[in-house]
Amino acid sequence: MMNQYVTGAVIKELRETNKMTQSGLAEKLGVSDKTVSKWETGRGYPDITLLEPIAKALRVSVAELFSGNPVHNANVSANMLRSKFYVCPVCGNVIHSMGESVVQCHGILLSPLEAEPADEQHMIFVERVDDEYYVRIDHSMTKEHYISFAAAVSPADIQTVKLYPEGNAEARFRIRGVRKIVFFCNRDGLFGIDVVRGINNRQ
Ligand SMILES: [Fe+2]
Repeated sequence: MMNQYVTGAVIKELRETNKMTQSGLAEKLGVSDKTVSKWETGRGYPDITLLEPIAKALRVSVAELFSGNPVHNANVSANMLRSKFYVCPVCGNVIHSMGESVVQCHGILLSPLEAEPADEQHMIFVERVDDEYYVRIDHSMTKEHYISFAAAVSPADIQTVKLYPEGNAEARFRIRGVRKIVFFCNRDGLFGIDVVRGINNRQ
């Protein structure tokens, strides 16, 4: 929650992730063990002047400390296949990230979308045309209920096509390396299929 101050649970979780004891953290911050214990059990909050030192000691940004959604930097060799999509429910902005991140739009902290398998209301047809995948989604395209984007994900890149109400729910993607095709319904969320090599006509 963005409107919340740093919580003890987040401090505790990050401290443990960093394999640090309460006294280890206390020492770095120049406070007593008891103070750290108080924060973690919700019996007190760290003074605002301590936020930066706490974030630094726990190896996160102040924003991550607030969001309670820590980004672990171990994922430096981020692979596109681990891509995450975030969509703002207010403006429809689509944000793509190669790994974990803290994403905010219109004051809303966004969670990464999880792609569900395509279902009967959200059927996708993929056809190979020359060196492209021609993708069509069987779905309404009214202003109230439509597919707002489709994307093809390969280990090296991501191709995204924005779709609009009253338009066609279709897209073309370069085939090379594509492993996953996802699309987003403004009402029902993210759907996706894995693409197998040598796909021909596949639902
Ligand atoms: Fe839908």
